[in-house]
Amino acid sequence: MQSTPGGGLGPGLSPVDSRMLLICSFILMTAWGQMNFTGDQVLRVLAKDEKQLSLLRDLEGLKPQKVDFWRGPARPSLPVDMRVPFSELNDVKAYLEAHGLAYSIMIKDIQVLLNEEREAMAKSRRRERSTNSFSYSSYHTLEEIYSWIDNFVTEHSDIVSKIHIGNSFENRSIFVLKFSTGGFQRPAVWIDTGIHSREWITHATGIWIAKKIVSVHGKDLILTDILKAMDIFIEIVTNPDGFAFTHSMNRLWRKNKSSRPGIFCIGVDLNRNWKSGFGGNGSNKNPCSETYHGPWPQSEPEVAAIVKFITHHGNFKVLISIHSYSQMLMYPYGHSLDPVSNYEELYDLAKDAVKALYEVHGIKYIFGSISTTLYVASGITVDWAYDTGIKYAFSFELRDTGHYGFLLPASQIIPTAQETWMAIRTIMEHALNHPY
Ligand SMILES: *[C@@H]1O[C@H](CO)[C@@H](O)[C@H](O)[C@H]1NC(C)=O
Ligand SMILES: *[C@@H]1O[C@H](CO)[C@@H](O)[C@H](O)[C@H]1NC(C)=O
Ligand SMILES: *[C@@H]1O[C@H](CO)[C@@H](O)[C@H](O)[C@H]1NC(C)=O
Ligand SMILES: *[C@@H]1O[C@H](CO)[C@@H](O)[C@H](O)[C@H]1NC(C)=O
Ligand SMILES: [Zn+2]
Repeated sequence: MQSTPGGGLGPGLSPVDSRMLLICSFILMTAWGQMNFTGDQVLRVLAKDEKQLSLLRDLEGLKPQKVDFWRGPARPSLPVDMRVPFSELNDVKAYLEAHGLAYSIMIKDIQVLLNEEREAMAKSRRRERSTNSFSYSSYHTLEEIYSWIDNFVTEHSDIVSKIHIGNSFENRSIFVLKFSTGGFQRPAVWIDTGIHSREWITHATGIWIAKKIVSVHGKDLILTDILKAMDIFIEIVTNPDGFAFTHSMNRLWRKNKSSRPGIFCIGVDLNRNWKSGFGGNGSNKNPCSETYHGPWPQSEPEVAAIVKFITHHGNFKVLISIHSYSQMLMYPYGHSLDPVSNYEELYDLAKDAVKALYEVHGIKYIFGSISTTLYVASGITVDWAYDTGIKYAFSFELRDTGHYGFLLPASQIIPTAQETWMAIRTIMEHALNHPY
């Protein structure tokens, strides 16, 4: 069960109060470093048709750097969720009303959820320190995750190792966990989480799954069979700079932290920076856009490191790239509406995986190709994987469908991970039984 996000400023706020609030939040932001989202809301708009969708797309241009789409305008059946700063709320609501766009308030005050999240983390950190343990039902910082990785690898050195595959733009190390029972360049499964840094549920799910693999190896017959024939690689923090930034400055940062001389805006959308369909529809050449594709394919070290690793390995059979939120399981293509050659197999497999997921906690996912289920998106991970010869390429959008969005409470980490694991296991089992 989910509770309603509470808080909010209440309806009686006078203009003077709101100016004061803005000044205060600016001062507090500079004083404490963390961006303050007090009074910011997430609005949900249900567009009736293409025309209304394009009115929503226009908002990104009308309010550059202000309106942050959590779920961008896609198709009329899918809701559009956008974060609007307190200072822009009146303008944006007036725009929506003037154009007959119906909206509802999904999150009344983002800062209320952020405060709850921060308190939960602090509480859990105290408990972890006093018991010298790691809580799989809490969110963690980059340092905490990297130190967990080291302990985990030491503890399970019989099947897990840590591989350094590159460094980020800000020179943080990028690590991959390798689960292997032996052999050389065995057929392999790739799983990445956190390429979009604000999607915290994905890192937490990756961590839980890593632990699950070592816990059930030798007990769960399917996983044991998989590990007899295949290796599993998990990159938990795919965008370490962005992730560190979500903790230190801006919880809602999506892109990486790259900057270039003469360009004011920071960051490239790492899930638009891949070679397949680079620069096409559903990516943006404007560096200030949240879907900026970067100057050239694989310009970003975080993407280049994966391309190099997977290409050099040469025997990956499955790639699973994990995002949030929306509850979807998708396969290529994103950059084109054309079906891929094994789309029937991918459709059936996605259907089975979603069924296995549903059976755990009754959570419903929709599935299909990316371009037909979500929207056209170019330069994305799974399209690259598919074009590079990995025919089982999938992308998840984990919980929820917008009640909390990116701010999914930590109490949902374990259920989310449990159900996601069953879907991933279904995909791996299929790959094991259909070698190529
Ligand atoms: C954010 O701003 C609000 C209103 O200005 C203030 O009351 C609150 O203490 C600030 N929170 C943080 C964490 O800075
Ligand atoms: C980046 O980090 C590595 C260690 O991971 C270090 O050896 C190297 O000197 C660093 N490079 C720069 C430019 O700071
Ligand atoms: C961010 O993008 C820049 C290119 O603009 C790239 O060089 C850098 O490695 C990226 N950093 C991250 C964390 O992805
Ligand atoms: C992008 O979309 C436009 C309009 O829908 C279409 O005409 C064009 O062919 C698309 N470009 C690519 C590369 O698919
Ligand atoms: Zn994402």
